Amino acid sequence: MSKSPIETAISPFLQTCDIDIRSPEYKVKPFVMVIFGGTGDLSMRKLLPTLLHIFKEGELPSEFAILGVARSTMDDDRYRNLVKEAIQESGEEPLEEKGWIDFSRHLFFFSADISRDESYRSICEKIEGLLGQMDRESRDVIYYLAVSPRIAPMVIQGLKRNDLCRGAFHTKIVIEKPFGRDRLSAAELNKVLTDGFEERQIYRIDHYLGKDTVQNILFFRFSNSIFEQLWNRHHIDSIQISVAETLGVENRGAYYEQSGVVRDMVQNHILQLIGMIAMEPPVGFEADYIRDEKLKVFLAFQPFNKDEIDRLMVRGQYGPGKVDGQEVCGYRGEKGVAPDSNIPTFFAGKFRIANWRWAGVPFYVRTGKRMEKRITEIAIQFKQPPLRLFGHACDTLDPNILLLTIQPEEKISLSFGVKYPHAENQIHTVNMVFSYQETFQIKYDHPYERLLIDCMKGDLTLFVREDEIETMWHIVDPIIARWENNSPERFPNYQAGTWGPVEADQLLERDGFQWITK
Ligand code: BG6
Repeated sequence: MSKSPIETAISPFLQTCDIDIRSPEYKVKPFVMVIFGGTGDLSMRKLLPTLLHIFKEGELPSEFAILGVARSTMDDDRYRNLVKEAIQESGEEPLEEKGWIDFSRHLFFFSADISRDESYRSICEKIEGLLGQMDRESRDVIYYLAVSPRIAPMVIQGLKRNDLCRGAFHTKIVIEKPFGRDRLSAAELNKVLTDGFEERQIYRIDHYLGKDTVQNILFFRFSNSIFEQLWNRHHIDSIQISVAETLGVENRGAYYEQSGVVRDMVQNHILQLIGMIAMEPPVGFEADYIRDEKLKVFLAFQPFNKDEIDRLMVRGQYGPGKVDGQEVCGYRGEKGVAPDSNIPTFFAGKFRIANWRWAGVPFYVRTGKRMEKRITEIAIQFKQPPLRLFGHACDTLDPNILLLTIQPEEKISLSFGVKYPHAENQIHTVNMVFSYQETFQIKYDHPYERLLIDCMKGDLTLFVREDEIETMWHIVDPIIARWENNSPERFPNYQAGTWGPVEADQLLERDGFQWITK
């Protein structure tokens, strides 16, 4: 039988459907989540409010239990009250009585000294008890390490010694950054983890990957053939990433003194953003396919010698200044910070990715605390047209710029030139803007929400793999070492409330560019 005109028209589409790649489907099954550090800051301010939110959204199964583990002694009721107060204080999630009461029935507490083996045996009995009240098939247990990095290895080893990693239950383990402080210590931590767990059980959190607009980088790139054609060295002149914060180090001075901007932001969040921007299309939307492609990008980063670090990397530290109209102190005046500290709070640098797609395209990165405004943005600057056709009035054309704004607003905009009305051969740059908030009328979702649900479902796509972590350290280790072994010439070198030291502007000016995010 011959095809109707409509069938003929849609047949190419049907053919492409034949080669569609199906992404796996995941489901949350009944589970017990054991939170080590169940009374700590992370649990109280982030994890538990997010869990309550997910529960209210109806994303959790009817059977689940959350077991807070900490050293203090208290019963379940006391713990529930503590959590309730903390959620109220955090303001992260509205507390209606009904929702809270239903949620709190799933909340339990267990007092344990995690340095002792008997504690793990008792935790095991407690988990057995909680699972016993659920669907009998269910053996899913998630260990969440909301403890300091110093203590995390002790917990992992305790779980392993007591056979709680692979044998007893279907387990997963969630671990927060920092994953070590250099490649070597990250490899040691990974060894501790993989001695107990298999890689597919390990969920290393980078909260940037939980942000919708960060995930959107992949959707935007791989669902629009018009941009992907241009996504390479033939059409792109440079890529810029700016992650600017107005906050200082708040009450985390002591942590920050051990960390600094490169360990805190570049090794993880910023490199992950570059990974998403620069990766090749994965062969499917499964965790390892995506992680393989990101890893290839990290492996292709061109290494730097000392001279290149001095030339291409800029460090800064904020001095006193004004942020949002308020006087603020300099980094050296913050609580927990040495008065002569040389820890950098600002980084700017030029990275190069030596692969077929990106050879010759500079990736400029800038991040810092106490900057003029809070904004995270990726700017893709396209090349100039091959000829200037419009005479002298148009000698300098603004380049086309694609801006992916990740926060605080979530939007995508594309700039292009049009003829200015009535005037002779005059070009005017205009913007086409898509705003997430306006189009979808959404409120900002917390990145933890997506990450927690994915972990419950067993989807590792948005979590970072062992080899990614170690390769990311390999990229930044030489920068950290160079800076730690050479004191800066003048710190502080930027005023709070500005865009950082002047050297960060000069870095781009030398190559004929300027920072697009303002
Ligand atoms: C954290 C860093 O990982 O990310 C903080 O430790 C930083 O220093 C924070 O402030 C930034 O996250 P966001 O989501 O506010 O951009």
